[in-house]
Amino acid sequence: MQRVLITGGAGFIGQNLVHAWRAARPDDRLMVLDAMTYAANLRSLEPLIADRSIQFVKGDIGDAALVRLLFDEHGFTRVAHLAAESHVDRSIVDPEAFLKTNVLGTFTLLQAALDAWRSSDLIGCARFLHVSTDEVYGSLGPGDPAFSESSPYRPNSPYAASKAASDHLVRAFVTTYDMPAMITNCSNNYGPYQHPEKLIPLMIIHAVEGKPLPIYGDGSNIRDWLHVSDHCDALMSVIERGRIGETYNIGGGNEQNNRDVVGAICDTLDDAFADDPRLAARFPSCPAAKGAACRSLIGYVTDRPGHDHRYAIDAAKLAAELGNRCSVGFEHGLRQTIRWYLDREDWWREVTSGGYKAWIDRNYGFRVAV
Ligand code: NAD
Ligand code: DAU
Repeated sequence: MQRVLITGGAGFIGQNLVHAWRAARPDDRLMVLDAMTYAANLRSLEPLIADRSIQFVKGDIGDAALVRLLFDEHGFTRVAHLAAESHVDRSIVDPEAFLKTNVLGTFTLLQAALDAWRSSDLIGCARFLHVSTDEVYGSLGPGDPAFSESSPYRPNSPYAASKAASDHLVRAFVTTYDMPAMITNCSNNYGPYQHPEKLIPLMIIHAVEGKPLPIYGDGSNIRDWLHVSDHCDALMSVIERGRIGETYNIGGGNEQNNRDVVGAICDTLDDAFADDPRLAARFPSCPAAKGAACRSLIGYVTDRPGHDHRYAIDAAKLAAELGNRCSVGFEHGLRQTIRWYLDREDWWREVTSGGYKAWIDRNYGFRVAV
């Protein structure tokens, strides 16, 4: 039985990881520590908190006293560190929060874990997993080989720079203090509970509401889409069986440009509305409700500054050492994700009320058609 701390457990990947962990390792004791920023949502965890399957603490990873108290009281043997500011566009308009949480917060968490584990007998059996991103490696050209664990760091956005800094801190703690830590760098996740500021949920929700679908630049930018369930499986493998001090890349083996992703969302919605007449009554503003194509909503707008052109992950090390391979194909995963957002209007309506509207005005207000 492990005592597990999941930071950022109320975020998109965090919620999925909590459910996956609960199902795979029911004897472990799980605690979620989350500051409950705009990106957090506890709805899916509420039943687990209510029946005491998990414990939840609202708090900041940068609060050294709180974090140390939690380690001393709960004797964590595993830390899955996901708490972060995670949206590239927000890091462009307001980078400071990214430095505070992603750099200083990660430092505080590392320090507390190291001190607590050193002053107990846990240092020999504890493990700290730092969840990071492929964006630390920068941008690939069309013919470049995919990012491997030895690719140089070349972060381009404030978000990517803050994650790169946190990765370097983890490496330094391993080398200098024998911190029992590992790093994973993964590609773009998609699936249930993703915040509607990110490409796939944003486009689904805009389409069903009949709003424009704003593709940045010419839409040729490429991402390597990974279903969140495959990511969570890989995280659980690395934290248990990965080698301390190592980095593991996690990817979907599925490169798609943004034009194709948005086009696939539109076509899938058209088919869903054609198959299920009840959708037209629920989402009357969607073009598909009147038999028109959702693609008619697509528009090209001012590009993201410093927009990385292409990400691709070489996940051979993960497969060779730990046996993890992706099991969810993109077509199936996207269909399932679209179905989830159609069925969980209650969830995204709650998330897109309040501050979300101000964000949409801020990020898309200055963009013009190109
Ligand atoms: P998210 O934005 O959905 O969730 C982040 C969570 O962290 C939120 O619940 C938020 O409240 C919490 N948080 C933020 N600041 C905090 C603080 N100071 N203290 C405690 N909690 C805090 O992010 P996500 O998409 O679930 O990403 C999780 C992790 O995975 C991040 O570290 C991100 O960099 C990394 N990652 C994400 C992706 C992706 O495609 N989503 C890909 C690669 C890596
Ligand atoms: O690669 C991993 C990273 O993937 C994670 O580290 C980040 O936390 C996560 O947010 C994601 O970053 P991206 O910037 O790639 O994701 P986003 O969903 O914001 O954008 C995906 C692509 O779609 C990107 O090329 C920008 C484009 N885009 C995005 C939005 C929100 C648009 O064209 N229009 C949009 O409105």
